Amino acid sequence: MTTVSALMETMEYGPSVEDSTAVRDWLARHRAFGHFIGGRFTEPGALFDSRDPATGEVLAQVSHGSADDIAAAVAAARAAQPDWAALAGTERARYLYALARHVQKRERFLSVLETLDNGKPIRESRDIDVPLVARHFYHHAGWAELRDSALPGHQPIGVCGQIIPWNFPLLMLAWKIAPALAAGNTVVLKPAEYTPLTALAFAEICQEIGLPAGVVNIVTGDGETGAALVAAEVDKIAFTGSTEVGRAIAGQLAGTGKRLTLELGGKSPFVVMPDADLDAAVEGVVDSIWFNGGQVCCAGSRILVAEAVAERFETLLSARMARLRVGSPLDKSADVGAIVDPIQKDRILSICAAAVDAGAELVGGAAAHGCFIAPGYLKNIAPANPGFEQEIFGPIATLSTFRTADEAVELANNTRYGLAASVWSESAAVATDIAARIKAGVVWINCANLFDAAAPFGGYRESGFGREGGRAGMLDYLAEAPVDAADEPAAAAPVATTTGSGHPTGLDRTAKLYIGGAQKRPDGGASYAVPGGLAPLGSRKDIRNAVEAAAKAGKWAAMGGHARAQVLYYIAENLSARAEEFAARTSRAEVDAAIARAFHYAAWADKFDGANAQAKPGHLLNVVNEPYGVMGIACPNAQPLAGFMSLVMPAIAMGNRVVAIAAQDDPLAVTDLYQVFDTSDLPGGVVNIVTGPRDDLAKVLAAHDEVAAMWMVGGDPAAVEKAAGGNLKPVWSPAHRNWCGPQAQGEVFLRHATQAKTIWLPYGA
Ligand code: NAI
Repeated sequence: MTTVSALMETMEYGPSVEDSTAVRDWLARHRAFGHFIGGRFTEPGALFDSRDPATGEVLAQVSHGSADDIAAAVAAARAAQPDWAALAGTERARYLYALARHVQKRERFLSVLETLDNGKPIRESRDIDVPLVARHFYHHAGWAELRDSALPGHQPIGVCGQIIPWNFPLLMLAWKIAPALAAGNTVVLKPAEYTPLTALAFAEICQEIGLPAGVVNIVTGDGETGAALVAAEVDKIAFTGSTEVGRAIAGQLAGTGKRLTLELGGKSPFVVMPDADLDAAVEGVVDSIWFNGGQVCCAGSRILVAEAVAERFETLLSARMARLRVGSPLDKSADVGAIVDPIQKDRILSICAAAVDAGAELVGGAAAHGCFIAPGYLKNIAPANPGFEQEIFGPIATLSTFRTADEAVELANNTRYGLAASVWSESAAVATDIAARIKAGVVWINCANLFDAAAPFGGYRESGFGREGGRAGMLDYLAEAPVDAADEPAAAAPVATTTGSGHPTGLDRTAKLYIGGAQKRPDGGASYAVPGGLAPLGSRKDIRNAVEAAAKAGKWAAMGGHARAQVLYYIAENLSARAEEFAARTSRAEVDAAIARAFHYAAWADKFDGANAQAKPGHLLNVVNEPYGVMGIACPNAQPLAGFMSLVMPAIAMGNRVVAIAAQDDPLAVTDLYQVFDTSDLPGGVVNIVTGPRDDLAKVLAAHDEVAAMWMVGGDPAAVEKAAGGNLKPVWSPAHRNWCGPQAQGEVFLRHATQAKTIWLPYGA
């Protein structure tokens, strides 16, 4: 007699196909779509096909948005924005609740439409994508209500242009639209060309709930349409997609004053420590790289396994992989669906072929007829192999080993990206240690690819900047209220020094650069005349030396806020003791402000807390404010001492090391600080100071790969933003003009000196 367990072992799954009639009826009713502008659909224009990648069938035709369409949509958004922003928070919240509820009501419809258009398994669109969409609108309805009370001192940015990819079409729409609307902005969103249909269905939902015309506008099209949106009169661009396009957008926006957030690619490590629960870790791989066919920016695509358990892990992994069902996306028992488009399929296969050519072995990963690729992994792969370095964006991981925890961290961080990581260990101490040392915006401990509206998501390094989700995400859709200059005491005029005339005669001294805690002559040996003496003429080489010194001073972050606070207090005290002397070089107001900054940020050093975000029950979600690492700061020319201290103190208080370019015309009050730093136990390399042609030096600093963030006051932000776009570092140009006033200090400086890292830790005895 056959037992039930024997039956379960041998039983074949039959197909269980989700009914798509309602969606097909809807598509048949529309056939060709226009854009959604000013609350209504336009007449269809030049059309292109949107296809079901699983079958190649044309689902509908959508319009190719022109620059004129974009301009019309931006005009509609502009017209709608003041009234939308002026609505009471509760009123904006009501609309967001309504969007959430209507998405929920149409969960089945939207899941089927998403699966047809994108090729992802219905299980995923039904259980993950669409519920998260509803969750996003609910969560942000709350932020709409709380904006003014929970985020005071902020205002909406205006009109936001939003460009999204095809891997989570409706979810990415929700990630973009919900916070923008909650903050009081209006939007023009461009969905990806492969997957525009759920965005158009969402436009109908906006009509149904009576969302005021122009608050949400949707223009379909390809990269050209996206580029037109970037060039349009918008106040912010929020982009999710490839690093290549992100870089181009950063270049295009440089110097325009438009805000930018970028969520780009990744090659995220999946680290299996020797004490990991290997069965659980194998399930983690399934969720990491075979979820959505690996077309996930934060996919754990680089599996790094401890050598001691590597063999057993691979045995379990290949057995599990063999049981994954690749099949029709509408089949409820399919684990892996179709790749979004033949172009993407070819791209995946060509990277795999290059990896194999370079010596790697591909296990699984066979291409099948249509847009299907079986799950697979590349083994025996060297770190320089293209398959190890490039984002494959398909269901193919790499599998390699490490010996020690240090080696695991080194391999994990050996990438230009920094989006996510997954760490597996049964030891909380080990897992937390590795999570803390990996440079990535999201780290999942003993889990993978978990998302929530309350959990900030976004990258380090070339994975982009800005966060989506939670408080951090809201702040990226808000502007700090303008600094009211009238509220600030007028800047005191610099007091002329009694010695030194700005000419090489009668000088009282020649300053040096400050690099690695030592005074250094400039590389070229030249100086330039400044009031009170000569300042060294720093060069490209000096900037490089300063960055190198800063890079070596990494212990500063590890010292902790308490220890850093003591150094800053010490700086404040030592500066106070020499206040008269500094006042003679600058002004009393500047010296008082400089001392105030050191005290203020000493106080903050151990208090700029992250959060325990409220995401899923059973998960500890730590949002940690991490320092960037090495920051470049081009200081203001006016108020040299107050400007320098207002910028450098918050940056170092958070654990960054700084390369600062002092005020070009009058830097000697800053170069006098060297002795203050030396006597205050500031470790060498934490603050490095270069003087000279500020804007030229700022460009060199902005272009340096080791510099992770750049602050620039005045000068030529366009050139600096262009230079910084190369490795996608954020550039912040604080709008303050009076560096002596109380408004030139506070949390906003700390926020720009840190990046949120979200660490997920599920628990359960
Ligand atoms: P893509 O970056 O070209 O497309 C993403 C979005 O940007 C689409 O809406 C597209 O129309 C738009 N776009 C393209 N060029 C633009 C431009 N010059 N200006 C403004 N918008 C523009 O990505 P693509 O070509 O679809 O995929 C290529 C690779 O990019 C993938 O294989 C993957 O490696 C990566 N990628 C990463 C994503 C992520 O979530 N981080 C999402 C999509 C792709």
